[in-house]
Parts: sequence; structure tokens; C-alpha cells
Amino acid sequence: MSDNLPPSVQSSPPSAPPSQSPPDDSPLTILTTLLFPLKFILLSTSFLPRTLFSSPFVFPIPFTSSYDSFQSKWFGNFWSHVGPLVRINASALVVPLLSGRISHGATLPYPRHPPLQGTVLEVGPGSGMWTSTLSSLSQNITKIYGVEPNESNQHLLAQSVKAANLQDKYEIVPLGIESLAAAGKVQKESVDCIMTVMCLCSIPEPQFNIKELYTYLKPGGRWYVYEHVKAFERQGKWMGLYQTVLNFFWPHFVGGCEMCRDTPKWLREAGPWSEIDLCEPVGSPWYQTMPHIIGVLTK
Ligand SMILES: C[S@@+](CC[C@H](N)C(=O)[O-])C[C@H]1O[C@@H](n2cnc3c(N)ncnc32)[C@H](O)[C@@H]1O
Repeated sequence: MSDNLPPSVQSSPPSAPPSQSPPDDSPLTILTTLLFPLKFILLSTSFLPRTLFSSPFVFPIPFTSSYDSFQSKWFGNFWSHVGPLVRINASALVVPLLSGRISHGATLPYPRHPPLQGTVLEVGPGSGMWTSTLSSLSQNITKIYGVEPNESNQHLLAQSVKAANLQDKYEIVPLGIESLAAAGKVQKESVDCIMTVMCLCSIPEPQFNIKELYTYLKPGGRWYVYEHVKAFERQGKWMGLYQTVLNFFWPHFVGGCEMCRDTPKWLREAGPWSEIDLCEPVGSPWYQTMPHIIGVLTK
């Protein structure tokens, strides 16, 4: 398994065998996976007309000062439809992650880390894809701050919070993470757990803001991570190059999301950690254009 580990990983070996099955390396699977970002871009483009025609913006949008809010609205429309489909695959990893049952990228039948508990900071919750999971863990959770700047997502998030019966605990903070300190809404070293699921690819100044997020964790607090990141060296230089080329287009179609971020490095360097259990999911194939990391970092 160690061949699969990016250099950023430090932790003790997993205490149970990996539960994931080996990748299917058929030519069709490889081709489909390589073309996946192009399919995603096309899908996103299909949400462009309805966003244009439902917007109070002046055409042509790209020449108006409202382009950022237009792009947020476009992405909000896109993600509210596509997010639930992405969730179907991601939940096989994210649900055990938030329950503490992921270690060394493998899903375990029992917790290796404590589940989410106490005060939780959810960064970029979008339309609230994980509220039902948060609800199932809510007996140990006292408060959740959902820091979400995209207005188009916020009302869907509010609906998800209500559907998950989390109104008493879940507070939507309608800001970008970069504005949280100035708003004074959440105190430094007051948070037991941070969760970032597919959002560190989208935040501005990621290296700085990941460090900033670290400061919200209490000593002993934990950061639960599931993120797509830049191609690993083990995938070969052609995969790295292919990803770099895709990333010329990708952010424009996917709400500013970046494909080539060195998130594992920035997380590791965010501050002193007592444990880093962060890895590629077991069985991740070499031909992934959007390789992921998953795990828990403990302050
Ligand atoms: C790909 S979506 C993922 C949403 C959700 N975490 C999920 O798993 O479905 C990325 C999210 O990050 C949010 N985001 C973008 N910039 C952000 C920022 N500066 N601070 C916090 N969240 C941000 C976006 O609005 C969006 O909801």
C-alpha cells in the first residue's frame, strides 16, 4: 500500500485491511476517467443558458462588473443538480470519514478517530450535501458553523438544514472563509472539528487560508478532509501535464475550482499537528485526473 501514499502522509499503519476493491484498469475505464473533466465542463456549460436568462445581469455578462456573482450563480445552479450525483460516489468515503472510520485511506469497520463532535466548522457546505450525515452524528455535536459565501447555495443549504432537523445547531455564516476573522463570528481556538469536503479547491489564497483555518482549532481539535488535489508524482509526469492543461479551462466552468492545488502539503504545513492521517483513498488508480486525499489531522 505504501506505493500509493503521497509523501505528505505520516501516520501509523492502518489496523484493518483496506475495504476498497482494486481499480478496474480496462481501456474503456481509463479513457472515461481521463475524459471525465471534459464531460463535467460540458455539463456545466449546459447550465449556462438558464443562468443567463434567470439573471438580472446585463448582457454580455463577461464585460460587466457582476461577473463574479454571475459565476457564483452559475456554479450554484450547476452544483445543486450535479452535487447530489457526486455525493452518491463520495458518500462511500465521506460518511465513514466524518464518523472517524477512515485511516490510511482505507475504510474501517470501527472508528480509528473520534467522530465529529462539539463545535464544528463546515467550510463551503454548498447546498448542504452532508447535513443528513451531520444529523446522524448530531448527538455529539453542539454547534455547526456552515461558512458558505455563495448566495445561490445559501437558501438550499437552509432547506437542507431544516430537512435534517438541525435548525437548533446549524448556523449559516454567509461569508467566504477569508472574511471569517474580520467578522469575529467564530473565535480562534474555539472549534473542536473542521470539515472540508471538496471546497479547498475553491477558496482564495489557499495556502494562507488553510493556515488561518488551523488557528480556529482547539488544541487536540481535528480536521476532517476529503479534497481533490494536484496529480501525485506516482501518476507520472504526463498525468501532471494533462491536469495542468485541463486546469487552463476548468476553473472558468466550475466556479473557480482549481485542479492543481498542493493541498496535502499546505495542510501539513498549516501548523504543528500531533497526528496526520491523510492519504489517497486505497485503490486510487494512476489515471485519475482528479486524485483525492482523505483523512483526519489532529492538532
Ligand atoms: C464543489 S462545492 C462543494 C460543496 C460541498 N462541500 C459538497 O460537498 O457538496 C465547493 C463549495 O466551496 C464554496 N466556497 C467557494 N469559495 C469559498 C470561500 N472563500 N469560503 C468558503 N467556501 C467557499 C463554494 O461556494 C461551494 O459551495
